[in-house]
Amino acid sequence: MTGRKRSLSGIRVTGRFHLGNYLGAGVNYVRLQDEYESYIFVADYHTLTTKPNARDFTDDLYDMVMDLIAIGVDPQRTVIYRQSMIPMVSELTLLLAMVTPLSWVQRVPTFKEVARVQPDNVNLGLFEYPVLQCADIIIVKGDVVPVGRDQAPHLELSREITRRFNRTYRPVFPEPQIVLNPEAPIVKGTDGKAKMSKSLKNIVGVTDPPEVIRQQVMSMVTDVKRPRKTDPGHPRSCNVCAFYKFFFDDWEHYWELCRKAQIGCQDKKKLLAERIIERFAPFRERRASLTREEVDRILESGAERAYALAQQTMVEVRDAVGLPPYSRP
Ligand code: TRP
Repeated sequence: MTGRKRSLSGIRVTGRFHLGNYLGAGVNYVRLQDEYESYIFVADYHTLTTKPNARDFTDDLYDMVMDLIAIGVDPQRTVIYRQSMIPMVSELTLLLAMVTPLSWVQRVPTFKEVARVQPDNVNLGLFEYPVLQCADIIIVKGDVVPVGRDQAPHLELSREITRRFNRTYRPVFPEPQIVLNPEAPIVKGTDGKAKMSKSLKNIVGVTDPPEVIRQQVMSMVTDVKRPRKTDPGHPRSCNVCAFYKFFFDDWEHYWELCRKAQIGCQDKKKLLAERIIERFAPFRERRASLTREEVDRILESGAERAYALAQQTMVEVRDAVGLPPYSRP
């Protein structure tokens, strides 16, 4: 491949994209693929930390890869693969665990959060989650990692583990850098409270049928400090207005109308829904033309390329650690 820098990201299997995924990281997957040698994988090992049988998320997996391609990730330019098809990732995780102090992992906020949500399944894999994530990134020697803001603590830890590995052995890996989408509005879910998440049922879809998007947008909680349409609105604290910043070039005009009580919340939602539907029409079309067989082929050829790269890295890693090469029976 080329001498370009590498971009890599992984996505846990949750199904179709929602606006939070798209604005937070999706936009950057598409943007970075011109400048970087790009890799995106389906984090199925990570998904096992909460759903222990991979067969249970087959449909979601196809949905996700189809959406990835629908939003513009081009399998010709981005290597798309499934994490578990690259088994060396798990070996690297084991080796990274030897240089990762327990205290670093203990302070990861997502671990505490998931442990709270599923108290009867606080497994070791969950604990090791960020170490596996670091292995994902550095096994392809990723330079930059496009992700949503929620991933910042994981990326910070990945950098620390990478530094520790490089110092303990020799500088095998670049230190990965997080790439956020600075234009992503801090959007909340339709409840106006929590961040968008499928499990909270507060999402707005991207490739869903227009009637679904319409219904989701119309269910959004709006400006709570504006009980009547004739009262002036507060666009700064209104979640619907936050979306306008992304979907309307002339969002300031709408914010002004809202402040002057010249547009009501319902009308703002209607306009927003139609705009989202229109903006994503090409995504829906592209998605409709994809088949599962095509997705299988894409994942197969992506895995071939990622596998070759991972194998090369592990030769270097095993040598750095002082382990013998793999035996060849
Ligand atoms: N933890 C990420 C998430 O929940 C998914 C992920 C796994 C990832 N491995 C990664 C992201 C490597 C970036 C790089 O969204």
